[in-house]
Amino acid sequence: MEQQAAAVPAAPVLAAFENAKGFMPVDEGLALYDAAVRAAGLGLPLLEVGTYCGRSTVLLADAARRAGVLALTVDHHRGSEEQQPGWEYHDPEVVDPVVGRMDTLPTFRRTLHAAGLEEHVVALVGRSPQVAAVWQGPLGLVFVDGGHTDEHASGDYEGWAPKVADGGLLVIHDVFPDPADGGQAPYRIFLRALESGLFTEVSVTGSLRVLRKSAPDAGRR
Ligand SMILES: C[S@@+](CC[C@H](N)C(=O)[O-])C[C@H]1O[C@@H](n2cnc3c(N)ncnc32)[C@H](O)[C@@H]1O
Repeated sequence: MEQQAAAVPAAPVLAAFENAKGFMPVDEGLALYDAAVRAAGLGLPLLEVGTYCGRSTVLLADAARRAGVLALTVDHHRGSEEQQPGWEYHDPEVVDPVVGRMDTLPTFRRTLHAAGLEEHVVALVGRSPQVAAVWQGPLGLVFVDGGHTDEHASGDYEGWAPKVADGGLLVIHDVFPDPADGGQAPYRIFLRALESGLFTEVSVTGSLRVLRKSAPDAGRR
């Protein structure tokens, strides 16, 4: 069977992604973009958990724009554990000097503005489980890149995976089967997704795993 060529972002979109603060390498970004373009064909919103400064959001936004759907992105914008002062991924430039806590929302807004993609994104500012609890609709894609503790990763999986439409995609970042490479919480939710019998793996790029939701396998329910 002929393989479909991967969808790639136009040069200005890729440049906006590369210029944004964030943690995602280009190869994983391209895999996320391709997944988002395919999922957007379902005509449903694409949702991200873990906006940070909008690096990955740029790619979801452009995929959404191409299909005429919306990208939704959830974050409380106060940073994950490892981004707090004194920790490995802390960036003092994203501390609100008045409040004295991290606030990545202004930088996120600048990223989207620079990319010219503001009108294709709805930012949901809040805790992922709280937002999931009030979000009713089906989603074409859920990208999990929020908190990396078991509590947060499980909350993201339990809150959002049930909302992926049939044929839609669940994408999980920072999946490291070997503990020497990184924390295990995203890997554990990846395993849960496979063991549910509802998701099958579509691709692996670095630590980014793409899974497709299909009708429940009666034997494994
Ligand atoms: C690894 S960063 C996201 C990186 C981003 N996707 C990128 O490409 O640059 C994780 C983000 O998740 C957010 N976060 C962590 N736990 C959360 C929770 N329970 N609800 C909402 N946001 C959360 C943090 O504030 C942080 O901005």
